[in-house]
Amino acid sequence: MRISVVGCGYLGAVHAASMAELGHEVVGVDVDERKVAALGEARAPFYEPGFEDLLARTLATGRLRFSTEIAAAAGSQVHFVCVGTPQKRGEYAADLRYVEAAAESLLGVIESGELVVGKSTVPVGTAARLADLVGEKVPGAMLVWNPEFLREGFAVQDTLHPDRLVYGLPDGPDRATAERVLDEVYAPIVARQTPKVVTDYATAEMVKTAANSFLATKISFINAMAELCEATGADVKQLADAIGYDDRIGRKFLNAGLGFGGGCLPKDIRAFMARAGELGADQALTFLREVDNINMRRRIRMVELAREVCDGSLLGKHIAVLGAAFKPDSDDIRDSPALNVAAQLQLQGAVVTVTDPAAIENSRRLWPQLDYATTPEEAAERADAVLVLTEWRQYRELDPVAFGEVVASKRVLDGRNALDREAWTAAGWTYRALGRRAG
Ligand SMILES: NC(=O)c1ccc[n+]([C@@H]2O[C@H](COP(=O)([O-])OP(=O)(O)OC[C@H]3O[C@@H](n4cnc5c(N)ncnc54)[C@H](O)[C@@H]3O)[C@@H](O)[C@H]2O)c1
Repeated sequence: MRISVVGCGYLGAVHAASMAELGHEVVGVDVDERKVAALGEARAPFYEPGFEDLLARTLATGRLRFSTEIAAAAGSQVHFVCVGTPQKRGEYAADLRYVEAAAESLLGVIESGELVVGKSTVPVGTAARLADLVGEKVPGAMLVWNPEFLREGFAVQDTLHPDRLVYGLPDGPDRATAERVLDEVYAPIVARQTPKVVTDYATAEMVKTAANSFLATKISFINAMAELCEATGADVKQLADAIGYDDRIGRKFLNAGLGFGGGCLPKDIRAFMARAGELGADQALTFLREVDNINMRRRIRMVELAREVCDGSLLGKHIAVLGAAFKPDSDDIRDSPALNVAAQLQLQGAVVTVTDPAAIENSRRLWPQLDYATTPEEAAERADAVLVLTEWRQYRELDPVAFGEVVASKRVLDGRNALDREAWTAAGWTYRALGRRAG
């Protein structure tokens, strides 16, 4: 099939290459010239394991190309909309201007019988509105909503092997055609008996925001338990292990620590609350405000903990921050808890050196006033405290004995409960973590 993918960021670029991998002829369109140039030369404009190989492989087949011109989408049977939906400045609601611009530009090139497929995460009601627009401007063209559940760090695997497909389809005569076309797009995935939920627009839109709200709630739940553990002397890691054995609860997403960030969970729960308010159903989601609050409190607590281990004052203290990305295996620093803490420490008088295997370049652009180092050893040279704020494997596997040689004081704050406490304390480190007693 001929497919266009409009918006080639973390979601769209991987989607475009994955669709080519499935055998389709794909054009990726983005307004960002630098991104398009890099993608066309098989250079990933962001760090995502396995993506650059996939990109090179699919470009080499001749089935994948990139363009800054929406005209390049003409003639495709299916058009994916993968543009960003960030939080509006000064408001909780999602900023839909990119989705609207992408839809507008597509309307100039699509023809009757073609399918527009929304993948961006949007407030419930958006698809119905866009469907009216599409139907009005290009009679015979169809719109479906097909939310994306990929996780950064596993984006290639998740796109090619999703755990479910969700189709939000129009009512009426186009419904069966739209489903058949999507099945054809995802043919190998459908053939593997991947669970498929075929539903209406509103449910499909809500599946995505509900899933993210649930995940955020689970993280904030364990972080709320961490606050209580701090007040009582209990141990949140053991608590999580013990409740996680109950398979109704499960252990995943129960790691207490610095909480969630990134380009999805924070803005998605806020947009969900804003939309609920517009719909007169705000009471249903007031708990998400608390989820958000618990999450943000962890960042403040981390700074307090750093002050505590630095003998009550951050002024002039050298602090090494290991990790800047919002999660490991990504260079994404959007609303990164690690960078947020690093910046707060710096603003409170500490001398902060940040390191990250993939996100230094992005971080430097956002926080040029922080110092950056390429290795943990370099960052930790003569440090008064080391904070592990993103659980990259490289940091989890640091040798506490050798690493102890470079610092001024062996004080480590494990912001992700990711280190082996026994090994670090045995090597003479003062070990502190959120929700656990001093080690
Ligand atoms: N990143 C994820 O892990 C992920 C997972 C699931 C869903 N989503 C959702 O997918 C959407 C995209 O997220 P992302 O992380 O890829 O964002 P992103 O900011 O990395 O990418 C968005 C891209 O769209 C481009 N763009 C903006 N306006 C355009 C236009 N009019 N025409 C063409 N291109 C345009 C931008 O230049 C950018 O490259 C969001 O709604 C997000 O919530 C993201």
